[in-house]
Amino acid sequence: MIKTFSSRAGRLSPTNKDFLNIESECLLKLGQQPETSKPIVIDIGFGDAQSFSKDVVANNGFCFIGIEPYKKGFARAIEFYECNKPDNLYLHNGDAREYLESISFEFSFVRIHFPDPWPKKRHVKRRLINHEFLKFIHTKIAPKGKLEIITDSEVYQNHIKEILDKQSLFEAIDEFEITYEISTFHKKGLDKKHAIERYVLLKN
Ligand SMILES: C[S@@+](CC[C@H](N)C(=O)[O-])C[C@H]1O[C@@H](n2cnc3c(N)ncnc32)[C@H](O)[C@@H]1O
Repeated sequence: MIKTFSSRAGRLSPTNKDFLNIESECLLKLGQQPETSKPIVIDIGFGDAQSFSKDVVANNGFCFIGIEPYKKGFARAIEFYECNKPDNLYLHNGDAREYLESISFEFSFVRIHFPDPWPKKRHVKRRLINHEFLKFIHTKIAPKGKLEIITDSEVYQNHIKEILDKQSLFEAIDEFEITYEISTFHKKGLDKKHAIERYVLLKN
């Protein structure tokens, strides 16, 4: 069970519940592969799905698999799918590590925008990004695949820098093919005048 960082768990509205009960064509079970010939982008933790939905529309040369355990955001992503039927969106409700562990197809891109920072020392182990995670993504991502991480948390920035300095699995570059809108957590960071750091990592 994934611990949530903030009190976002949020109550589900009747509309949320209706969408969660639909057997939507966009849903992927563990191990299940999307039907697409487009390069696959894994979005880990799309949150409330607001900016994620726009990114799916703006980047329709790519096929997105959005993975999110948070039910309310997940319901919103299904709602977006059912109302718009984009052919480049698939969703998995759960832990990204478990889904990625279960699949055997290749994907070219991973996005992690504003991962839960878990700033307290005693919660360091809960941070998604660590050396083990990078090693895991490296085994799963296609040759020359790219990982994009964005965070406004200074503590997480220092943590990521420490991990990156010690590894040679990925090389830091600038270019990432997929565009993004300002997300809810990105806006919160900007409102707090936090420095936003973006890391693009190319598989060596
Ligand atoms: C701080 S929010 C950021 C949401 C969104 N990306 C944004 O920029 O607004 C982090 C999200 O990651 C999700 N998350 C945490 N651990 C996860 C995991 N192991 N797999 C998938 N999503 C995860 C949380 O449920 C939460 O919605």
